[in-house]
Amino acid sequence: MAATLARLLPLLLLLLPPPLREYLSASEIQHGAKDDAATGVLHPIVMVPGVICPHVEARLTEAYHPSVPRCGAMIGKPWFGLWENATDVPAHDYLECFKEQMSLVYDPAANEYRNPPGVDTRIPNFGSASGFSDKRPLHTALCLAVLRESLESIGYHDGDTLFGAPYDLRHAPPLPGQSSEAFYFEQVTRLVEDASSSNGGKKAILFGHSYGGLAALEFVRSKPLAWRSKYVKHLILIAPTIPAHGFVDALRNLIQGTDKLYVPGTTPLSLRATWRTFETAMVNIPSRSVFGHDPLVTTKQRNYSAYDMEDLLAAIGFGDGVEPYRRRQLPRTRGDFQAPLVPVTCLYGVGKSTPRRLVYWDGDFDAPAELVYGDGDGTVNLASMLAFDDKMRQHPVQRKQFKSIKLAGAGHSDIVQLQWALQRVVQEIQEANRVPS
Ligand SMILES: *[C@@H]1O[C@H](CO)[C@@H](O)[C@H](O)[C@H]1NC(C)=O
Ligand SMILES: *[C@@H]1O[C@H](CO)[C@@H](O)[C@H](O)[C@H]1NC(C)=O
Repeated sequence: MAATLARLLPLLLLLLPPPLREYLSASEIQHGAKDDAATGVLHPIVMVPGVICPHVEARLTEAYHPSVPRCGAMIGKPWFGLWENATDVPAHDYLECFKEQMSLVYDPAANEYRNPPGVDTRIPNFGSASGFSDKRPLHTALCLAVLRESLESIGYHDGDTLFGAPYDLRHAPPLPGQSSEAFYFEQVTRLVEDASSSNGGKKAILFGHSYGGLAALEFVRSKPLAWRSKYVKHLILIAPTIPAHGFVDALRNLIQGTDKLYVPGTTPLSLRATWRTFETAMVNIPSRSVFGHDPLVTTKQRNYSAYDMEDLLAAIGFGDGVEPYRRRQLPRTRGDFQAPLVPVTCLYGVGKSTPRRLVYWDGDFDAPAELVYGDGDGTVNLASMLAFDDKMRQHPVQRKQFKSIKLAGAGHSDIVQLQWALQRVVQEIQEANRVPS
C-alpha cells in the first residue's frame, strides 16, 4: 500500500493546485535540501532600496540639444549607463554631460518634472533584488546586500521569492490626484502580482529602506483597498523618510548639496545644481505640522521655520524651487492622513545626533552649516518618526496592525548593515511569514 502510494504520489501531486503541490513536494525533500524546503512556504519579498541605490540608463535622441557638442556623442546610440558606475563619469570626461542629462526640468504648465528634451531614461534591472548598488566603492552594504544575504540564508532566492523594485531616484511618488508619469507604481503592481502568483497566491511582503520606505508606503496607499488585502501581507519600513513630515538634514542637502550624488572628484557643492532639479531634493523638506515655528535655519539676520521655506528657497538662490514647492510639495503635507491599512512594522534607529537646526551665521549658504543636534537616527529627526507613529496609532483600524520598533544606537544607514539591527529586521520578516492569512 505504502509502495503504491509512493509510486502514485508524483502523479497525484500534479493534480493538486500549485501552492499545495509545492508545499508537499518541498516537505518530501526537507531533509535533503534546506533551501528547497522554503519554496512555497515563504511569502515573496519585494525590496525597495534607498535613494543612492538605483541605477539610471539613458538614450539620447535627435531632439537633444547638448550645451557643448561633445555631450551629443551618444545621440542615436543604444542605452548606456548614465548613473551606474560613478567612476565611468570622470573616466570619460563626462561630468558636464552627466549633469545636463541627469537633470530634470520642472514644467509649470503640467506641474510635472520631466527629462530634458531628447533624453530618455529608464531604470535597469527592475525586479531583481541585486540589480542596484551604491556608487561609492567602499560602501557596498548600504544597498541591502547584507540583508539579501541574511534572507538567502533563511531560504529566499533572488528572482524566485525575493525581488527588487528600484525606482527613478530623481522623482517623488505622486500624491493621490497628482499625476507622475515618471514614477513606477504600474511596474510595482505587476511585480507584486507576478511574485504572488508564482508563489502559489501568497501575498507579498513589501520592504523599503529610507526613501525606498517612502516609495513602498506611497505605493501601498495608492492601490485600491481590495488590491491591498489580496496582495500585501505586510509592509516593513526601515528608517522611512515620511513624505508629509520631512527632516532637517534634507534642508542641508538642498542648501549645500549632498554626496548622495557621488561622482569621484566632485564635491556636494559642485553637483548641487543637479540635485536641486530633482523632486527628491524637495520632498523631505521639514513640514509645518511636525516642526511648527521652530527655527530650522538661522542666520545673523533671520530665523527660518517650516513656515518660511519659500523665503529660504529664494535666499539660497533657488527661487526656481518656489513654484514646485508650493504646488507639489505643500499639498503633500496637508490633507487627511491616509493609513496604508495593511499590517505595518516600522523600525527606526534612535539615539544618534541628528541635525535639528542649521546655522549659517554669515548668511553664506555655500559654506558648511554649524549644526545644532537633536535626537533621531542621524538623518531623520525623532519628532518626525513619532508624529508618524501617532497618526498610525490614532487610526482605529490601522492601530491594530501597527508595530513601531526603536533601535537605540542604530543609524539611518547602518540599520541595514549592523548585524544586531539586521537580526531584528529578519525576525520581523520571519514573524510576518508565520502569521496565517
Ligand atoms: C567602472 O568604470 C571604470 C572606469 O571606466 C572601470 O575601470 C571599471 O572597471 C568600471 N567598474 C565596473 C564594475 O564596471
Ligand atoms: C532666532 O531664534 C533664536 C532662538 O529662538 C532667537 O534667540 C534669536 O533671537 C532669533 N534670531 C533672530 C534674528 O530673530
